[in-house]
Amino acid sequence: MFGRVKPLDAILATAEKKSLHRSLGAFQLTMLGVGAVIGTGIFVLTAEAAQKAGPGMMVSFIIAGFVCAVAALCYAEMAAMVPVSGSAYTYSYAVMGELVAWMVGWALILEYAIAAGAVSVGWSGYMIGFIQHSFHITVPLEFVRGPFDGGLINLPAMSIAAVITGLLVLGTKESATVNAVLVAIKIAALSLFVVLTLPVIQSGKFVPFAPLGFTGISGAAASIFFAYVGFDAVSTAAEETKNPQRNMPIGLIGSLAICTVFYMLVAAGVIGTVGAQPMAGPHGEVLSPGTPALSAACAAIQDNAVVCSKEALAWTLRSVGYPFVGWLVGAAAILALPSVILMMMFGQTRIFFVMSRDGLLPEFFSKVHPKFHTPHVITMLTGVFVALFAAFFPVGLLADVSNSGTLFAFAAVSIAVMVLRRTDANRHRPFRTPAVAVVAPISIAGCVYLFFSLSSETILLFFGWALVGLVIYYSYSRSRSHLGRGTVEVHETDADIPPQSVPPIA
Ligand code: ALA
Repeated sequence: MFGRVKPLDAILATAEKKSLHRSLGAFQLTMLGVGAVIGTGIFVLTAEAAQKAGPGMMVSFIIAGFVCAVAALCYAEMAAMVPVSGSAYTYSYAVMGELVAWMVGWALILEYAIAAGAVSVGWSGYMIGFIQHSFHITVPLEFVRGPFDGGLINLPAMSIAAVITGLLVLGTKESATVNAVLVAIKIAALSLFVVLTLPVIQSGKFVPFAPLGFTGISGAAASIFFAYVGFDAVSTAAEETKNPQRNMPIGLIGSLAICTVFYMLVAAGVIGTVGAQPMAGPHGEVLSPGTPALSAACAAIQDNAVVCSKEALAWTLRSVGYPFVGWLVGAAAILALPSVILMMMFGQTRIFFVMSRDGLLPEFFSKVHPKFHTPHVITMLTGVFVALFAAFFPVGLLADVSNSGTLFAFAAVSIAVMVLRRTDANRHRPFRTPAVAVVAPISIAGCVYLFFSLSSETILLFFGWALVGLVIYYSYSRSRSHLGRGTVEVHETDADIPPQSVPPIA
């Protein structure tokens, strides 16, 4: 079952053809991480976390940040040692064989494509709020929310997904300068939020702190994990890092620490000003985010609670008497979130591309456009699915499903690190996970704990998806696998594909 292992040397022969200049220091790495991480999670999902955990969501932010930190340390060892495209999929192929690699690649579809859908829905919420408050018009909910959220179809979310797909087909690059500007905008928006809300916090709003107990806190942690996804961008820059053994952990832990502190302060600002107690149904039952029951309960109070808001931070600022700053924070989200979508969709096309070139997915997926030199077929196919997810599903469900795939992939990478320490102990490791015997098992346990704290529908969806993956593997991919047919290819362009090179930042 674990027989088809792609030789690590063949994979590395590829990487050697790419020699990247080692230019990134600890500061740049940290900025890269912050740029990739801050997005829909804090701007939008804060409302969902409040519905699940109440004020206790502050603890949820710490738990999710901690699991990410230990997973990041494992990820960094693999990324530094196997600096080629395909991330967790490629590492698994080299360590645990084709079947595991396929399952990881299959789960990464959830991570990237569904996350792109989630961020598109998050963007739509801010865009609609922005239009309504700038022009004092009421937009019909039917066309700006999906069917689970009290609407029919989310047209703005579909449109942003379509625009980003178009940009990727044309080969849009995001430069380090754009990243720096977007990081500054996001940090400025969150700082303004904190500076204006913290002074007016009332301690009474924190009571009861955990109305739904530790189960609620765990459930919120599993959802809010989404707010940290993207830090793997730091690990994948390992090859371009000066003194990676020192700078990589600083960049990873530094960016996660900065985000965790901001997230805690923002959460405190929301809780302490407008309150964050979950909404209960008519019979006192707890309502789940993204359900028609919660939409109905929210409609009954004209969405007048943060847990009902689709633009939690802007809503909070308006409620505490800063409508203009709320408008500015909305504008910041509208500007910054598309780059997170771009990063996610780019990641997706890259994974598909590598899987298709290994023979596990149809060859036409990896077709490259003659003029734009981009993998246009797979980019458009990805775009269609992302737009459909964005059109019909609520942000929280998409984020949760994306988390399930990410947690699976992170657990696989943490296992791979330990296995490779045994099977290939002497290989050069530019970065070594500190105290791997402790850190990797904690990472695996943390991923498993968060995975099983997701809602039961999410867990079922994940297993359904995995089952479909297994059927496709055994009925299509296994017999067509290039490795299975005895070819181990080394591609000139392996490390740089798809041909346009967008840095893994957003
Ligand atoms: N961490 C990213 C976000 O919150 C994916 O949007």
